[in-house]
Amino acid sequence: MPTNQQIQLDNRPVGEAVASNFKLVTTETPALQDGQVLVRHHFLSLDPYMRGRMNDSKSYAVPQALGQTMGGGTVGEVMESKNDKYDVGDKVVGMGGWQQYSVVDATVLGALRKVDTTHVPLSAYLGAVGMPGVTAWYGLVKIIEPKAGETMVVSAATGAVGSAFAALSKARGCRTVGIAGGPDKCKYAVEELGFDACIDYKLHKDANSLSAALKDACPNGVDGYFENVGGMVLDAVLSRMNAFGRIAVCGMIAGYNGAPLPLTYPALILMNRLKVQGFIVSEHMEVWPEALKELGTMVATGKLRARESIAQGLEAAPEAFLGLLKGKNFGKQLVKLV
Ligand SMILES: NC(=O)c1ccc[n+]([C@@H]2O[C@H](COP(=O)([O-])OP(=O)(O)OC[C@H]3O[C@@H](n4cnc5c(N)ncnc54)[C@H](OP(=O)(O)O)[C@@H]3O)[C@@H](O)[C@H]2O)c1
Repeated sequence: MPTNQQIQLDNRPVGEAVASNFKLVTTETPALQDGQVLVRHHFLSLDPYMRGRMNDSKSYAVPQALGQTMGGGTVGEVMESKNDKYDVGDKVVGMGGWQQYSVVDATVLGALRKVDTTHVPLSAYLGAVGMPGVTAWYGLVKIIEPKAGETMVVSAATGAVGSAFAALSKARGCRTVGIAGGPDKCKYAVEELGFDACIDYKLHKDANSLSAALKDACPNGVDGYFENVGGMVLDAVLSRMNAFGRIAVCGMIAGYNGAPLPLTYPALILMNRLKVQGFIVSEHMEVWPEALKELGTMVATGKLRARESIAQGLEAAPEAFLGLLKGKNFGKQLVKLV
């Protein structure tokens, strides 16, 4: 069995996460038991939710245990199998974690899923045709429930979730406006992702200024908002919501280091009779097949060409992850492991 490199959570962050919270270790891979498969990971997914799991606090998921391999989505190839349903060479997606190899009990429902790389690249199963894509789909289709001609806004617009949101929203005939950090991301949002407009929030020092820019980009107001960031961005979009608008609260990355994100005018929710609903995509497994089908077709036909930021090698994972929390990624953040 191969030697395995892993990244473990060594200690918990106080405020901002730092590289010394992580530790690289080398271990031996155990021999396979009946029902298990050995997977060699080709790509590791880095996702904002991992920051929350580094804290030992009450949340929707249990905290990442200290001294254990960091959890995370992976795609890879079956190298050895003691399970009838998996053959050597099968491409699979699972939750292999921050390591080169994983031994997976493939008899556990949902532990591993075979994927077809004929028309969809393997890495896309961690992004547009994976958890982030389904996240965009759920928030748009099930919470916002868009109608053709309405105006949709999404923050962190060029990221893994935001880029899928753009394609799904445009396919439903909506004016689709992004909010992203910096001129390069905004140019890419309009020219490559199909956004009708994109606002660089870094040009705005406060919510009033950002709200004025939103007024120009959304002349008919905002009917649906997909929230990824929180803080000033949420305040600004809230001020432009139409009556009976819907807000899917997906993430609040601006506060993941523990900074409070107060809402300045919550009364706008009442005045505009808004629906505001948070969600966790893994609690809605029933929609994944339908969502993945639409997203897979979009990627295979070139209607969704999501960008990827790829860090090289497992040892690069901590810095890439810390960068993701500061917007240094441009598109889906992955780590290439082979
Ligand atoms: N509810 C769920 O089930 C679920 C599932 C998946 C993801 N999410 C959430 O969805 C959001 C997007 O996830 P993703 O995987 O697509 O990540 P991503 O957008 O690929 O990367 C994160 C982006 O967030 C932006 N950002 C970082 N710090 C920020 C700050 N302080 N203020 C404003 N923007 C900041 C950066 O974009 P800019 O450079 O444009 O600022 C950064 O590139 C996250 O909040 C995540 O937690 C939720």
